[in-house]
Amino acid sequence: MSIVAATTEAIERAAQALARGEIVAFPTETVYGLGANALDASAVAKIFAVKERPRFNPLIVHVLGLSKAEAYAVVSETARRLMGAFWPGPLSLVLPRRGACAIADLVSAGLDTVALRAPSHPVGRALLAAVKLPIAAPSANRSGRISPTTALHVEAELGNLPAMILDGGPCSLGLESTVLGIEGDDVTMFRLGALPREEIETVLGHRLACPEAGAKPASPRMASPGQLAIHYAPSTPLRLEARDMREGEALLAFGPDAPKVEGPMLNLSPRGDLNEAAVNFFAALRSLDAAGASAIAVMPIPKQGLGEAINDRLLRAAAGRTEDAQVPHPRSALASP
Ligand code: TXA
Ligand code: MG
Repeated sequence: MSIVAATTEAIERAAQALARGEIVAFPTETVYGLGANALDASAVAKIFAVKERPRFNPLIVHVLGLSKAEAYAVVSETARRLMGAFWPGPLSLVLPRRGACAIADLVSAGLDTVALRAPSHPVGRALLAAVKLPIAAPSANRSGRISPTTALHVEAELGNLPAMILDGGPCSLGLESTVLGIEGDDVTMFRLGALPREEIETVLGHRLACPEAGAKPASPRMASPGQLAIHYAPSTPLRLEARDMREGEALLAFGPDAPKVEGPMLNLSPRGDLNEAAVNFFAALRSLDAAGASAIAVMPIPKQGLGEAINDRLLRAAAGRTEDAQVPHPRSALASP
């Protein structure tokens, strides 16, 4: 069993493992990450191997804050303003790499940008402080599968492949960070996530276009190779926007109007709160996936606030495996880079 309670002593051991080039899973406020020393290409290569992640999909690098970010990337005024408003927290910024950037090229998958994020989770921060290195960390699931929001989920995905799984309890947000590309004043939305789009727009003072198939990034350097149409995928087919139940289905419900059903059912938020729904989302998907149902019927979930990111995950989770055969995925042009 490689799950270890995240005591000060365990965090210190995890930092030593990272410094030796091993990989360690740890909690952030969004989801659990699978970390490696971002300066060490062979350590980073282990992440790609363990996750079976395509090499063209770059990783997010975790740092403590702005001063570390500036060592690796070009931080424009706009980037600085967003960091000031939202760091530490669930916002990743894809920035141009500095000329002398020491982060392994493999982390950037050959691009001349690097994604940086300062997590707010006390265990993530304690680990960064102890190791004194930038930590490259994607979500700690096999590529394409459901992101883990507890240490047990990580173990179910990766077994004892990480040197350690630091257990810091369930993640408080439950959805991955929002990813923005920034070069100068140009802002490109790469991934909807735990920081709602509206909050970013308030700080920027203008609207942001949603990530869409074929959409041109705001600046030519910004490319998003990792936004796969099929992602977060359970093995059981999903039926979205379900307003009734069919034989053999499990129900993923939302809100006070959920029907009473006999089979397996989970309500993301009986009081209809989107923040609560985000926290419960991946765990609920994982648990209904294990229920042996013919499909998972998903009630409609409002599209505003965090609902936008939840619906984005649902579309990707359902892509290619909906029951009603050809429900086209609106971003299917992003399926392959
Ligand atoms: O909340 C999170 O962001 C979690 C926790 C562990 O921090 N991490 C996470 O990492 O979700 P991952 O690898 O599952 O997703 C990273 C996303 C991918 O869509 C990837 O393509 C994008 O960020 N990304 C990373 N570096 C990039 C770059 N240089 N240019 C464009 N997209 C990038
Ligand atoms: Mg992921």
